[in-house]
Amino acid sequence: MPVATQASLKGLTYDQLKETGCMLCLNNTYHLGLKPGQEVLDLVGGAHKLQGWDRNILTDSGGFQMVSLLKLAKITEEGVRFLSPHDGTPMLLTPEHSISLQNSIGSDIIMQLDDVIVTTSPDHQRMEEAMERSVRWLDRCIEAHKYPERQNLFCIIQGGLDLELRRKCCKEMVARDTPGIAIGGLSGGEAKAEYCKVVNTCTGLLPDGKPRYVMGVGYPEDLVVSVALGADMFDCVWPTRTARFGNAITPFGVLNLRHGSFARDYAPVQEGCKCPCCRPKSEGGLGLTRAYIHHVTCKETVGAHLLTMHNVQYQLSLMNSIREAVLEDRFPAFIVNFFENYYGSLS
Ligand code: GUN
Ligand code: ZN
Repeated sequence: MPVATQASLKGLTYDQLKETGCMLCLNNTYHLGLKPGQEVLDLVGGAHKLQGWDRNILTDSGGFQMVSLLKLAKITEEGVRFLSPHDGTPMLLTPEHSISLQNSIGSDIIMQLDDVIVTTSPDHQRMEEAMERSVRWLDRCIEAHKYPERQNLFCIIQGGLDLELRRKCCKEMVARDTPGIAIGGLSGGEAKAEYCKVVNTCTGLLPDGKPRYVMGVGYPEDLVVSVALGADMFDCVWPTRTARFGNAITPFGVLNLRHGSFARDYAPVQEGCKCPCCRPKSEGGLGLTRAYIHHVTCKETVGAHLLTMHNVQYQLSLMNSIREAVLEDRFPAFIVNFFENYYGSLS
């Protein structure tokens, strides 16, 4: 999922996002709850109408954004207390309020409010409390959810890097039988080995027939490894954010097109890419070159827009290729080929 925090994927119109084949994008409850706010969302008839997007939306519940964005957020059993970034008034986001906002947003997948702390925290007791509280908050979310028949509520497994806490959490969450399951509390700077152990432990305990969503993951190498460990869905701001710094993701690694070596490079950003930027004119694309992106990327916002399209297209086609390889029973060979290409230029 590309991340459109404020109901807009920075630099793209929704037609352009559709052209990448995107079927599901992510919005944030915290941001939409502050602005335009619940009243406007109810009047407009939800986030699909607000942003003119007739495909699917997943909303994150808000707690994680507050804790990661606001130093002053304080978590109690009731919910997350914070000061409004607009006018400093004290506010409280409870599981019930998060669900009510997501009901007004009308997103197709809604996330439970969870108690998130950085994975690398050494405070085991706090980690255990956060895990247990996330289970209690899931119960409150299920109870508060008005439209279970049209909005799929996903639980979020917590427990930091402690595999025993993760196992306990999986057991409790799976028993609640939500339509999908997320693994949270990762992508916070933990070692890759720890990350893999947590994902592998959780996926081993989850039912086969439900989507497994690892939150906040988006480097191509992490997507490939996480699918190998049994995960299905991901979101990350990195592909779109890094585009704004002139970075293009390709099968052969990330290229920084601001580098002077691209000034006379008349190849497309990525040979064979189907995005409007790379696709030749004869196939209805713009047929632009690396030299052009290099030329505009520091000075004109269009460089960022073009690379945003390219990066979203890259990520979605990577996931499509992974899916095909899994379905055709050739995923191991796919992984070898992917890493040979992606890191090949380094060796
Ligand atoms: N985004 C990345 N990680 C998390 C998490 O643990 N919880 C929530 N709600 N969102 C996230
Ligand atoms: Zn492209």
